[in-house]
Parts: sequence; structure tokens; C-alpha cells
Amino acid sequence: DSAEIEQCFEVALGLVKEAGQVVREAIKKQKTIETKSCNVDLVTESDKAVEKLLIEGLAKAFPSHKFIGEESTAAGAKCVLTHDPTWIIDPIDGTMNFVHSLPYTCVSVGLWAGKEALVGIIFNPILDQMFIAKKGQGAYLNGERIRVSGQKDLSQALIFAEMGTSRDPEKVKTVLTNLTTLMPRAHGLRDCGSAAVSMAYIAAGFADILFHYGLGPWDMAAGALLVWEAGGMVYGLEGGPFDLMRRRVLCASSPELAQEVAGLLTQYQPTPDGDL
Ligand code: IPD
Repeated sequence: DSAEIEQCFEVALGLVKEAGQVVREAIKKQKTIETKSCNVDLVTESDKAVEKLLIEGLAKAFPSHKFIGEESTAAGAKCVLTHDPTWIIDPIDGTMNFVHSLPYTCVSVGLWAGKEALVGIIFNPILDQMFIAKKGQGAYLNGERIRVSGQKDLSQALIFAEMGTSRDPEKVKTVLTNLTTLMPRAHGLRDCGSAAVSMAYIAAGFADILFHYGLGPWDMAAGALLVWEAGGMVYGLEGGPFDLMRRRVLCASSPELAQEVAGLLTQYQPTPDGDL
């Protein structure tokens, strides 16, 4: 119920602020970097420390809740979304940006239950942008209500598109083909380097559409709720239903824009287990 959602939100918000403080300090310092699936898929000691801080704090407050964390999954934990309340965590989204001290990076925490998003928090502690959403209660940036742009016209749309962390030649080719198709038809193309920040920016109306082929649930769990609560659309890449566990997303400021872009995209499906 809404009192429970509020309690979950308050606990998570406090922990995300603490996590933000860790990221804000760490971005100024030398980072210890390891690679995961390939040499551009990075993790730092700060990703691990922040994930531990968040999971330990949430587990203490909500012992029966489940967790999906990017770095726990990379370390071998099971990544399954059941109907149980589940916290879905990306401790540092935009790790590559963080490593380079580029200030487009964030802590992303989503709470899902019954396969529905209930709470979404995306915090960029470097730019001090706190995006929050609770189901049915709207989306906010630093306390002010945000809404998607409502843009319907591709020629006026700012698009977020990214290569992501896979260097699978077929994926690289597909992304480049799609950029070539969209670039002359759109107002502009941008690569933000953090899928969660990009989704929050669509929610805030700073850009109009985003597509991606290789995301984890931790990249999208909070962002999807922000976009929905800001009046936007979240689909699978072909413009069909969105599935948090299927790695592909098209999110847009209007159904018209989403359908037009979906119709132009060459499709690519990462392996069922993903290309993370
Ligand atoms: C990455 C970012 C990036 C996206 C990659 C993700 P991470 O997440 O969201 O924008 O293109 O596919 O892996 O690894 O920095 O948490």
C-alpha cells in the first residue's frame, strides 16, 4: 500500500544520498578499474562499495525483500525477477564516464513488486540532480514535477543512442546502421554514456527518445518508472511491450515518435542471456 511504498522510498532515498556522497568523493580520485565481459565493460572499487552500502542498508530495513544488483550479478548472483518486492540496483551507471570523471553518472535504485515498478530513484551526485518517482504519484527532479516533452515529430526530436559495452561485430554494425538512418531525419543525436541518466532526461523533457539493445534490468528499473510517471512511453525495441529482463528498450516522449523510430530501426537481439 502507499504507506509501505513511502517507507521504502524514504529508506532508499537516505541510502542513495549516502551512496552519492561516496561517488562524489571517488570521482575526483584515482580509480581502481577491472574489466568484466570485455575491455570496455568496466567496474571500479566504487561500484562494488556503493552496491554493498545500498544492499546492506536495504536488507537491514527490509529483510524479506530480494535484490538484483549489477555487480552482484557480475560476481555470479542469480538475476531473476519474481513477484516478490525486489530492489534493482545499479550502483554507478555510466561507469566509463565515472572512470574518466565525466559528470554524467548516477546511482540508480528501483523497487519492483508483482512485476510492477513502485519506486525509482536516479541521483547524479556530481551535477546534484535527484530524480524520483513513486507509482501513481508523478516524477520529480530536485522537488519539481517533470514531464516528457511530448514531441511527436522526428525532425524535431533529440535522440539518445549508444553503442553500449558489447563489441559484437553484428551489434556494432546494427547500431551504426541505425545511427546513419536516424541522423539525417532527427534534430540531433546524443550519446550520454549512462542509460539511467538518459532515461531520467527523457522523463524531464531534455531529450525525446532513446533506444538501446544491451541493457541490464539495473540500467532501466528506475528510469522506466520515471518515464511512465512523466507521461512518456516505454516499449521493447520493436515498439511492442517492454520487458525489464529482455535488455532492449525504446523509450519516448510520445507513442507517435516511438512508432516512427521503431519502424526505421534494424533490429538486433542480444543472446537470451544478454551481452553484458
Ligand atoms: C552502462 C551504461 C551505458 C550503456 C551500457 C551500460 P554501467 O552501464 O548504462 O550507458 O550504454 O550498455 O552497460 O556498466 O556503466 O553501469
